[in-house]
Amino acid sequence: VYTAKVGPSILSSDLSQLGRECERMMECGADYLHLDVMDGHFVPNITFGHPMVECLRRCIGPDPFFGLEALLTLCRITDMHMMVSRPEQWVKPMAAAGANQYTFHLEATTNPGSLIKEIRESGMKVGLAIKPGTTVEELAPWAGQIDMALVMTVEPGFGGQKFMEDMMPKVSWLRSQFPSLDIEVDGGVGPDSIYRCAEAGANMIVSGSAVVSSDDPRSVIALLKNVVME
Ligand code: DX5
Ligand code: ZN
Repeated sequence: VYTAKVGPSILSSDLSQLGRECERMMECGADYLHLDVMDGHFVPNITFGHPMVECLRRCIGPDPFFGLEALLTLCRITDMHMMVSRPEQWVKPMAAAGANQYTFHLEATTNPGSLIKEIRESGMKVGLAIKPGTTVEELAPWAGQIDMALVMTVEPGFGGQKFMEDMMPKVSWLRSQFPSLDIEVDGGVGPDSIYRCAEAGANMIVSGSAVVSSDDPRSVIALLKNVVME
């Protein structure tokens, strides 16, 4: 039995108001924040890096106020989704900036084992992400060493894309093989696609445009959480 957590992606929000947007999401019931770092090389888009995370930390605070339960069970208030070509390069700067979890792409490194070790040593949780074209069998050898697997449900790079339902067998397979692994889905997840994610066994739900551009983000977050709760 597991409980789903919802982490809004603020990629589609007003980036000039990022601190305010993060606060707003947390006030609306977010369990954590999914922050999309893009380097213009691994993906054809650029967002922000560790200096921005350091500034956001001042808004979010080192001791998040939005739920003791979240604090105790999760401790990953800032989930950094690193869509970058050299993930090794940013581990220490991100840890120093106050990131709680470092999610890197399997496609971006030749030595996942040493990167996993480095992330752990720096005090962050470890997430491992795969793009739609990467098989779950490639991720499997590392599943015992990570805190979370991220199954991308769009090609990484942009918010607001269509959910790829054909990624769900990856989630189901991972859930069957690793019952206690946290499994996150990211890309096109909203009220229409959440049922498929829940059914497949995802327990960490990233949602960008569906939450951020809604008139009522609180209800959308609640809906995403409640569907997945078992
Ligand atoms: C895409 C990002 C996602 C995305 C989510 O590359 O990793 O986090 O911004 O946004 P939506 O939910 O709009 O697809
Ligand atoms: Zn993401």
